[in-house]
Amino acid sequence: MGRSLDGENVTVPTDRLQRLLSGPGRWRELVHLEEVGSTNEWLRRRALDGEPAGLVVVADHQTAGRGRLGRPWEDRPGTSLLMSCLATMPDRSPTLVPLAAGLATAEAVEQAGVVTALKWPNDVLIGDQKVAGILVEGVAGEGGPRQVIGIGLNLDWPGGERASVAAAVLRPVDRWEIVCELLESLDRWLTVVVADPEELRAAYRRRCVTLGREVRAIMADGVIAGRAEDIDDEGHLLLRTGERTIAVGAADVEHLRAV
Ligand code: BTN
Repeated sequence: MGRSLDGENVTVPTDRLQRLLSGPGRWRELVHLEEVGSTNEWLRRRALDGEPAGLVVVADHQTAGRGRLGRPWEDRPGTSLLMSCLATMPDRSPTLVPLAAGLATAEAVEQAGVVTALKWPNDVLIGDQKVAGILVEGVAGEGGPRQVIGIGLNLDWPGGERASVAAAVLRPVDRWEIVCELLESLDRWLTVVVADPEELRAAYRRRCVTLGREVRAIMADGVIAGRAEDIDDEGHLLLRTGERTIAVGAADVEHLRAV
């Protein structure tokens, strides 16, 4: 369950986590680091060295955290849950993995006692403020194709500078309880991605507040404004602009107004 590697704390911090890692689910080992550049990069390197799926890494602080679309993801030590999970998914399912991770994170935050929503593709919102972001990166190499699923969640941001779970529920939150909820929920949704992708899409539609709104999608090669009508089978956002419907795969979405 734990390994002795320099700079790694291999203690599994709670009984619940210990049970989860030794149970029938897909997560089998958790490494806890005080500081790392990026948990996604750390896990990606492990995967390239042949690490099989099932490893999870949690850090107290990242010095080079990565966000979607090449942006940085910043934290202050002790304020955030910074976690990456290594999973194997069949070839046809990877585009739904980011949506599954968004659903799992939203559910885990709700277990702490606050209602959440999703902004496409997988920003987790409390009210209209982002509390969590997800970055899924594919990795090949020895051991076959795997996904690194990275989750950054604001647990308690001092001074209320950013939305956080603790600020929403008006009490401190237990990071390891949220880790357990998240790992259980992610395991379930990753199973659904393969077994019944329509169930995943239906659950996603119920929680995604982007759908039905006028939005602006900012992509690497331009901006499209339109009405977010639905997601397609791959989880792309279907934007209605005049007579056309355009499927958007990778973009930052701004909600313009409710309709
Ligand atoms: C976003 O831009 O919304 C996605 C942010 C993802 C941040 C998390 S923190 C843990 C993991 N490691 C990283 O470097 N990034 C992800």
